[in-house]
Amino acid sequence: MNKNILCIGAGYVGGPTMAMIAAKCPDYRVTVVDVNPARIAAWNSDHLPIYEPGLDELVRKTRGRNLFFSTEIEAGIRACDIIFVCVNTPTKTFGSGAGMASNLQYCEKTARQILEHAETSKIVIEKSTLPVRTALAIERILNCQDNGICFDVLSNPEFMAEGSAIKDLENPDRVLIGARQTERGRKAQTVLVDIYSRWVPQERILTTNIWSSELSKLVANAFLAQRISSINTISALCEKTDANVSEVASAVGMDGRVGPKFLNASIGFGGSCFKKDILNLVYICRTYGLDDVADYWESVVRINDYQQKRFILTMLKAMFNTLAGKRICLFGFAFKANTGDTRESPAIAIARCLLEEHAEVVITDPQALPNARLDLASIMSTTDVTLSQSRGSLISFIDDPYEAAVSCDAITVMTEWELYRTLNYERIYNAMNKPAFLFDGRNILDHRRCYEIGFNVYPIGKTPMTHFIDDAE
Ligand code: UDX
Repeated sequence: MNKNILCIGAGYVGGPTMAMIAAKCPDYRVTVVDVNPARIAAWNSDHLPIYEPGLDELVRKTRGRNLFFSTEIEAGIRACDIIFVCVNTPTKTFGSGAGMASNLQYCEKTARQILEHAETSKIVIEKSTLPVRTALAIERILNCQDNGICFDVLSNPEFMAEGSAIKDLENPDRVLIGARQTERGRKAQTVLVDIYSRWVPQERILTTNIWSSELSKLVANAFLAQRISSINTISALCEKTDANVSEVASAVGMDGRVGPKFLNASIGFGGSCFKKDILNLVYICRTYGLDDVADYWESVVRINDYQQKRFILTMLKAMFNTLAGKRICLFGFAFKANTGDTRESPAIAIARCLLEEHAEVVITDPQALPNARLDLASIMSTTDVTLSQSRGSLISFIDDPYEAAVSCDAITVMTEWELYRTLNYERIYNAMNKPAFLFDGRNILDHRRCYEIGFNVYPIGKTPMTHFIDDAE
């Protein structure tokens, strides 16, 4: 009983999470379904649809044993006892709440599908990040027919981060399980606690009421993003005052009450969650009439945009107020290291601005070039860029960073890939146009060393190091 798990949605959350559950619970049968046959085919192939360290091995170990990927959603619903709903909940792009609220249409559609095909009672688990009180809507859909079949809705938000998904799933800071505080609700909660207890210590499994669980996911992401925006505001002040943002972050982070993590100043946060979840939080606050609270959280997103604009202005000013016709190489396009994901990557905004300045953009990234190609295609379709035919294509994608940097005027570090710390910058410098500029949007390079090689170096939140006489005065 209760050993048949179905996951609806084979994306970044559903795939890895179910692979971990299958690995840790060999006596459970886990089936992941999706409407997209290409995605399911990829999960069943040697080239999984997402790149995540450790994922290939986990899937190899479990696939065909007790982990299955399929497009048979209806059969899956009939056969299972427990359903994880891992469908995407993008920001609404239309109607009321456009640009802020979550688009819950996939979630609602899934609930209706469950209702239509279920022949026995089931536990339905919200794993997608959802606005607080979504469970109520799902419950209302699921319980609207009086056919003796009961559904218990739980909230179990996923906190793993991309690039470290397998590590985070294996060893989570906490697992949060929210349920209705009724006898039935608590019983369903225990079923899910039993699954996670196979590998997560009891004290890290937090059981709460269902609304706290839903809200905690939005708030956790809002707090993390807020730390980045906070340190990024200070990076701007450091650049004016010759203070060093890394030193300030270390000094502040050593206070045990603050903690050292998530204080790296950068070109801003990206990823599928932070902006979406904060805007969703803002929208919810506004619907409850909490405008001051909404403004407070909205400023976290505003500062993130500001930081990207500031970065471009620094480039423009440093490179003699014109980027037109200059070749700029983007080191990295993923929104963070160890992933090929480029959703909301600051590199997209930077590339767009560079193209608007009529620069030539060369993009290199060890994992994200396929996504970068798609992003750039959509930028080009919405940007009014006049092609300078004489200089060839405005955008190129090159795997090898050394080759990418050839004849460039500037390198901008967009993603903190370890690879970029270890390159031979002398070789890169020698192949570039002079004066050669280096804008380190992640503060990962050895700035002094790069300066000594000959680069004019512009970190974030630190005094630039240039070879221009007037700058030194
Ligand atoms: C985030 C949350 O961390 C995770 O718990 C949640 O489940 C999903 O959203 P993710 O988007 O995968 O995970 O990436 P994360 O590691 O949080 O980084 C988000 C962005 O912030 C990246 O662009 C990263 O480069 C940036 N960042 C992070 C900084 O700019 N500075 C930092 O100090 C930390």
